Amino acid sequence: MPTGRHHRVDIAVLGGGAIGLACAWRARRQGLSVMLVERDGLGSGASKVAAGMLAPVAEAEFGDAARSVLEMNLRSAAMWPAFAAELGQAAGIEVKLHRSGTLLLARDADEARELERSSALRDSLGLQTRRLRASQARALEPALAPTVRLALEAPDDHSVDPRNLIEALARACTRAGVQVLAEAGPAALELDADGAVRGLRLHDGSIVEATTVVLAAGAWSGSVEGLPPEALPSVRPVKGQILRLRDPAGPGMITRVLRYEGGYIVPRGDGRYVLGATVEEQGFDASPTAGGLYELLRQAWELVPGITELAIEELGVSFRPGTPDNVPLIGPGGAPGLLCATGHYRNGILLTPLTAELVCQALAGAVAA
Ligand code: GLY
Repeated sequence: MPTGRHHRVDIAVLGGGAIGLACAWRARRQGLSVMLVERDGLGSGASKVAAGMLAPVAEAEFGDAARSVLEMNLRSAAMWPAFAAELGQAAGIEVKLHRSGTLLLARDADEARELERSSALRDSLGLQTRRLRASQARALEPALAPTVRLALEAPDDHSVDPRNLIEALARACTRAGVQVLAEAGPAALELDADGAVRGLRLHDGSIVEATTVVLAAGAWSGSVEGLPPEALPSVRPVKGQILRLRDPAGPGMITRVLRYEGGYIVPRGDGRYVLGATVEEQGFDASPTAGGLYELLRQAWELVPGITELAIEELGVSFRPGTPDNVPLIGPGGAPGLLCATGHYRNGILLTPLTAELVCQALAGAVAA
């Protein structure tokens, strides 16, 4: 890490999660010089804990804001296969899409009514789902308990392993010539006398002068130093606790992503499962709680009793970046020279390809101006 140095680049990206890395890689491929600055390790925030569901249909909700999130989610989901192939080639490692489909499950009469209601919404939006009786769902996933009342299959909602994604993006960035500064400590935005962003001031005093700074600091985007309060993006941390489990008997207990009131189980296809996630408005309190984990396990056990046989590999806690309406902020920030790529809430991994494309479109305009 440089000390007290002065760098000059076209683009400085603040944040080394999936979003920041993808923006940096794409911008570099457009011929721009790029430096990415990450306070901790690459992908050590929400990306490390994310389950990696590429699930626009399962995540569809009611309301106008939800509709615009859905549109973005669908666009990005359609980009994923080509993005994964191109990234895999650039990185020299496979970026594997797990094309499992997703089952949305109801356990009792209330949940079944709610699933029927949301099924009607999905139909009205032209989203492809298939209604399954409990016996049909159990034929597809024999590990499901008889408590299942109703299921909806979303055959095009898949998943990806976010850690594999981060490794690929980090390699692709390095290979493409992005200057990557990880473990750099907290950086602040540098503003000129007119209030325009002119770069970053690093923890060691170095300056990264840039035409544009891309703010991709996830849940920390709303508290980045250097901007006046009124120019800060409105982003809050939404805590998620998640368990990583492994079946000592190997793969096969569950083959599709299971989504239900209060959580989800994502199979990695190799005997590992991600069981998530709490949704807690607790600020940046990163402590795991017995209550949170009990609820995760209880809800999953009601649907998949065999979950109790799995080994616990890891307990993760991180923070989703939520905006007031939970619609991502992608585009000009609160000061000239600042682009936001943040606020992805529950959909950061899914929205990675689209965000990188939108940011690069905006950068092309900013750098040419
Ligand atoms: N994407 C699922 C979650 O945020 O828990």
